[in-house]
Amino acid sequence: MIVKENRDITNKENLLIVRDLIQKRSGIFFPESKILTLEKSIYSNYLESMANNFNEYILCLSSKNGDSYFRKLISFLTTNETYFFRGKADFDILKNIIFPELIKRKSSNHRTISIWSAACSTGEEPYSLAIILKELIPKIETWKINIIASDIDETAISTARKGEYSQWSFRGVDTATMNKYFYKKGDTYKIKEDYKTLIHFINHNLISDPPPANENDNLASADSKHEFDIIICRNVTIYFKKETTMNLALKFYNSLNEGGYLVVGHTEYSADNYSKFISRVFPVGIVYQKATNGAAKNKTTPELISIEKKQVKETDKLLNIIKKSTPSLPKISDNLNLHEHRNNLSEEKIIFNEAIKYYTNNNYDFAIDRFFKVLDINPKNVRASWMLCHISANRGHFEDAIKWGTRCIEIDPLFKEAYYSLALINLERKEYNEAVEKLKKVIYIDPNFTLGYFTLGNIYTLMYLHSQATDCFKIAIDILSVKPSDEIVFQAEHLTVKELLNLIELKFRAS
Ligand SMILES: C[S@@+](CC[C@H](N)C(=O)[O-])C[C@H]1O[C@@H](n2cnc3c(N)ncnc32)[C@H](O)[C@@H]1O
Repeated sequence: MIVKENRDITNKENLLIVRDLIQKRSGIFFPESKILTLEKSIYSNYLESMANNFNEYILCLSSKNGDSYFRKLISFLTTNETYFFRGKADFDILKNIIFPELIKRKSSNHRTISIWSAACSTGEEPYSLAIILKELIPKIETWKINIIASDIDETAISTARKGEYSQWSFRGVDTATMNKYFYKKGDTYKIKEDYKTLIHFINHNLISDPPPANENDNLASADSKHEFDIIICRNVTIYFKKETTMNLALKFYNSLNEGGYLVVGHTEYSADNYSKFISRVFPVGIVYQKATNGAAKNKTTPELISIEKKQVKETDKLLNIIKKSTPSLPKISDNLNLHEHRNNLSEEKIIFNEAIKYYTNNNYDFAIDRFFKVLDINPKNVRASWMLCHISANRGHFEDAIKWGTRCIEIDPLFKEAYYSLALINLERKEYNEAVEKLKKVIYIDPNFTLGYFTLGNIYTLMYLHSQATDCFKIAIDILSVKPSDEIVFQAEHLTVKELLNLIELKFRAS
């Protein structure tokens, strides 16, 4: 029996060679900081292989003969985290907007729908899609539904084919849903056969394999051959380098029908990576669409225009008030952040006060000039930086505002006003998830900050997350109820506690 040398593989240079091979063949990239996490998996894969030494092992991994070892190694290394209806917002968009639009378009045509759930892991994602489709299409047996679900990990795909899951796969799914679509089998739940037949599971490498064949091709019209109506590929490119993701985006683009959609995970949104697509921005997320024949990239379909118009209407009076409001602006008497440059204390303070006076008199250009002077004296004056953030945002110069807001956080990571201003910019740009993250930080820093809860509640309402919205409004009411009713809450609108409570009450009832 051949004794294989452990040090062959644990040598960092050799680990890097395997790391690069993994990236080349699967796209999955391990930065140097994570290289040691590879060591154990590579070593046991090496021991299992037919290779007698490291060089043979590399040859084995790179050749067709060693394909099974490569797949085993990948199976060790992939993150298969998934569950039913994971990323609820994406399923909401599919269920409420994209599927109904597709069904309407196809019902007068050849009644085929082709979906590719790319990198589906253990199958919860394609089964969730099948469940929704079956709910939406009453006589689904008269349709040709083809869901191709693929993953590089053979073990994950065989679990998916079985369709049997433990309770853990149902995080966030209620018991009624589980009982409707699954049979209980001891401690596990098995998907009902009707849903299984809609899906075809395959072992497939997104990087090196051609797009899977679409069974509906022979039924589709000549202009939509070999193409899918929807490709869903979520939480995969987070493991890829940008260049790999951009190549994959092109592959997806070429595999979609005109007007077809690409759904990616929320952390994978990127106008840059998906620049060939039209970004469809919904309150709860973004979906990328391939333009229809002859349509300019910036045009949209009539259905989508009306949906988006409806969403604009959601921007109600209260939201407009929020957008104009700020946490208390610095007053002339405020203590300044003057840990440094003590010698220049008085000059810094005098100029800051001048700047505030100009600001209060709406003389913004003079105010900006003075705030810059304050920063010349003390670059760490967080309030001057924040005022520049605030003025830039008010003028619609969002990139500048983001720069100043970020600067504030660098100076003082607990400066809530900066997070709040940045959240308002996210709100303005309909980047609701980002806004929520920042507002959560604001509230963490100052748990009594009514405006924070109030704004968060409004954003949750826009995202249709009504129970979270209700919780926020309740907390805002609790905090406000102990304040004097004539106290001004929102400076920009001179809104008193009493007036705000009335508005919350109205909003609260509506959500
Ligand atoms: C975190 S899971 C995502 C599962 C599902 N899409 C979701 O969002 O719940 C990532 C999956 O990507 C798969 N994967 C990684 N690289 C791949 C590749 N090159 N080709 C196909 N699948 C790949 C992994 O095997 C893993 O199952």
